[in-house]
Amino acid sequence: MAGPSTSAADLAPRRDELEPIEIASRDEIAALQLQRLQWSLRHAYDNVAHYKAAFDAAGAHPDDLRTLSDLGRFPFTAKDDLRRHYPFGMFAVPREQVVRIHASSGTTGKPTVVGYTARDLDTWANVIARCLRAAGVRPGMKLHNAAGYGLFTGGLGVHYGAERLGCTVIPVSGGMTERQVRLICDFEPDAIHVTPSYMLAILDEFRAQGVDPRQCSLRIGVFGAEPWTNAMREEIEQAFDLHAVDLYGLSEVIGPGVACECVETKDGPHVWEDHFYPEIVDPVTGENVPDGAIGELVFTSLTKEAMPVIRYCTRDLTRLLPGTARSFRRIEKITGRSDDMIILRGVNVFPGQIEEIILTDDRLSPHFMIELRRGERLDAMTVLVEARRGVEEGAWAACNGDLVQHIKNLVGVTVEVRTLAPGSLERSVGKAKRVIDLRG
Ligand code: DLL
Repeated sequence: MAGPSTSAADLAPRRDELEPIEIASRDEIAALQLQRLQWSLRHAYDNVAHYKAAFDAAGAHPDDLRTLSDLGRFPFTAKDDLRRHYPFGMFAVPREQVVRIHASSGTTGKPTVVGYTARDLDTWANVIARCLRAAGVRPGMKLHNAAGYGLFTGGLGVHYGAERLGCTVIPVSGGMTERQVRLICDFEPDAIHVTPSYMLAILDEFRAQGVDPRQCSLRIGVFGAEPWTNAMREEIEQAFDLHAVDLYGLSEVIGPGVACECVETKDGPHVWEDHFYPEIVDPVTGENVPDGAIGELVFTSLTKEAMPVIRYCTRDLTRLLPGTARSFRRIEKITGRSDDMIILRGVNVFPGQIEEIILTDDRLSPHFMIELRRGERLDAMTVLVEARRGVEEGAWAACNGDLVQHIKNLVGVTVEVRTLAPGSLERSVGKAKRVIDLRG
């Protein structure tokens, strides 16, 4: 299939437009990391009661960190630690110096609260500007920001980074899909930032309005905040004739802007290792695994003032890969979180695997959901997927059978499949909810 008509090489920044650290030697990066890590551990230990107690209990003192690998002696931090100190107990500066609060929604229990000093906001804007530049966005371009503004970090985080880069930002936020399409047609933005699942809802709306999405002005799409596969990348690139680039981040570590793909390679997000130190650990033993091996992604902030995080367990599963377009290491595109893993009759299933399989069938749309029910003896999984427009209802039964077979062959589980009419499943405005668990 032909790629986007704008060449990635034309969008990619020249080497002299990059910050020197982006193309520094690994030794220079490691030296900077060590110096910053020593500061960050000391800052957390001296100013956050939780870290003092946790380090003391583990017998680890900030002075013990002489090399980067000494970090393994320090305890992990989990989301629960943040919840236990709700709302402001993890702050390392007086509350008056915290100029912004964000919170991640948290479907269960208390939200996770994060805070930023003025300098943290400055750092955040800089790393987002770096991400957008990597994605091919240039100063002077118009960026349509359809991520939610508010407590979610996706809207405001990208907003200020895009301004920092020198873009004209259109702060649409999520929702009112009809208006999204109108504004894209009228304001002619070069780039869009949105969750990949909401991009699909925008795509449907283009078609509903009879507007050809390939003719719109968008050349770059920056997508993140939820797992999405390379198959979905191709789907969106083809539909809009744009370059789809993966942006990764999480509130606890700063928000969006922890890592981003480069448009010229699209080979997994480069981690901005001068601010966020990544590790991959075995989720069961907690031991570090070597680069290239899959495990849970763990981050330590190197420069954050208001809320440093030490060895924060993300629950995201991936592996660390060497740098390509930049010196910083990459993470493999994240297609699953340990929280999203479905264990069906002993087999591990990720929604991303199902997405990938669905997208190989051109009779099926990328809109799907997974329902889990307690069966008579065993749990049952039903995949609900919409047919593409124009696929006759008479063909759906065959779609069901084929998808059952593909999932059986590729994932190793037997599921039920129901192909539905286009538009039957609820659309997300932000992060998609892929799994409905009715097992009680
Ligand atoms: O989702 C921050 C963000 C906003 C990132 C906009 C990118 C774009 P949280 O709401 O705290 O923060 O959710 C963080 O979302 O641990 C991952 O599980 C998932 N996630 C974020 N980006 C990606 C991505 C924002 N590119 C959680 N691919 C993370 C896969 C992602 N999963």
